Formats: sequence, structure tokens, C-alpha cells
Amino acid sequence: MAFEADLAKAHAARSAAELVQSGMIVGLGSGSTAGLLVKRLGERVAEEGLEFVGVPTSVSTAELARELNIPLRDVDDVPAVDLNIDGADEVDPEYRMIKGRGGALLREKLVACVASRRVTIVSPEKVVPRLGIDSPVPVEVSRLGYRHIEQRLRTLGARTSLRRGPDGAPFVTDGGNLIIDCGFSPLADPDTLEAGLKSVVGVFETGLFLGLCDVLVVGRPDGAEQIVT
Ligand code: A5P
Repeated sequence: MAFEADLAKAHAARSAAELVQSGMIVGLGSGSTAGLLVKRLGERVAEEGLEFVGVPTSVSTAELARELNIPLRDVDDVPAVDLNIDGADEVDPEYRMIKGRGGALLREKLVACVASRRVTIVSPEKVVPRLGIDSPVPVEVSRLGYRHIEQRLRTLGARTSLRRGPDGAPFVTDGGNLIIDCGFSPLADPDTLEAGLKSVVGVFETGLFLGLCDVLVVGRPDGAEQIVT
């Protein structure tokens, strides 16, 4: 099963990598599926001389892209992003998404919001009838006051859990913030929830990505399907 999911991710990544053309400025997502995309783009750079500029959405994606000789710029150093390609944790029938299991949600959302075209690459089990049945919504919050922020998130109906790293210490994002995972299983109304979460002082961003998927690429063990939303 894990092998089939990995193969599906690789097919989704490979299919989306074909959308990148020389001259583009491309947002590079984070996570394992986006990592496969970056590796495929690195192959295209080496084999075909593909020339593009990548805008990484995490420190780990930047490190991988640098190893593959992909030129990089920060999002503030480019006039616009032509194409953004990133993974997701869940996608519903209206192409709304939960992202951020890898903790890169703030930068991922910033880059997705300034991109002209947003492509999501997933394996089929990520496509779900309703958001939030299996995945909590990650919420990136200020370190200062996080206990109070967590309390306020609970009043919105969340079962909260401060994310921790493998060493048991609180997980700290690339931006120096904390993540509170908020379980709602399932989510009744993503738009209303997003507004509620963002109204809490100290919440920097949420892992609800609404209206940010223009093309969904679903990989399968034997290929990939591109759905224009
Ligand atoms: C990173 O913060 C996330 O948003 C990832 O894009 C998402 O969790 C999907 O990751 P995988 O491709 O590893 O499943």
C-alpha cells in the first residue's frame, strides 16, 4: 500500500513537472510529493536545459532545490509567480484543501496566493468527501500567548493539540512560530471556520486553503489525471 501511494505521488509530481516551461517563476511546495516534483524538475534542468526560477516554500525545499542546481528567489524578490505546485493533506469535491502537516503552511499559502495558477499534486487517498475527517487543521500561532490562543481555539469547537517534534519539544516553524493542530472531524463549513480561526489574535495562518487550487493532479500507480477546476 505504501509502495502504491509512493508511486501515485511520483506520477502526480511527474505530470505536474511537465507544466513548467523555461522562463517561468515557479512556486515550489513542501512535503514528500512536492519533494518528488523538485527532483523531477532537477532532472529536467540537467537533461533538457530547462531554465526557470523557483520560489521555495520551506527551508527543506530550498535545500533540495539548491542541491539540484535550481536557481531560487524569495517571494519578495520576484514580481509575480507564474505557477505554484504543491501537495495537500486533503482535497474535497469543491477543491478546498487542508495543508500544513509538514508545518510550512504560512509560506505555502503566501506563495499560492500570489501565483497566477495553482496546481495541487496528490495521491488518490487525499481526495475526500469532506475535509477534516482524518486530518486536523494546522494553525500557525504566535509563541507569545500560545496558551491563551489555544484556549480561544477551543471555544471555536476545536480539539487542540500543540504540535511537537520527534524530541518532544514544541515544533517550531521556519518562521519561528508554533503550530496548534485543531481537530473538528469533519468540518461543517470551511469558509466560516477560516474566518473564525483568523479572528483569533495571535493566529498567523491556517492550513485551510480555500479557492487556491486551479488544477488538481491525482496520481495513481499507473499514471496521473489532471483536473482543471
Ligand atoms: C507541508 O506543510 C504540507 O502542506 C504538505 O504539502 C502536505 O502536508 C502534503 O505533504 P505530503 O506530500 O508529504 O503528503
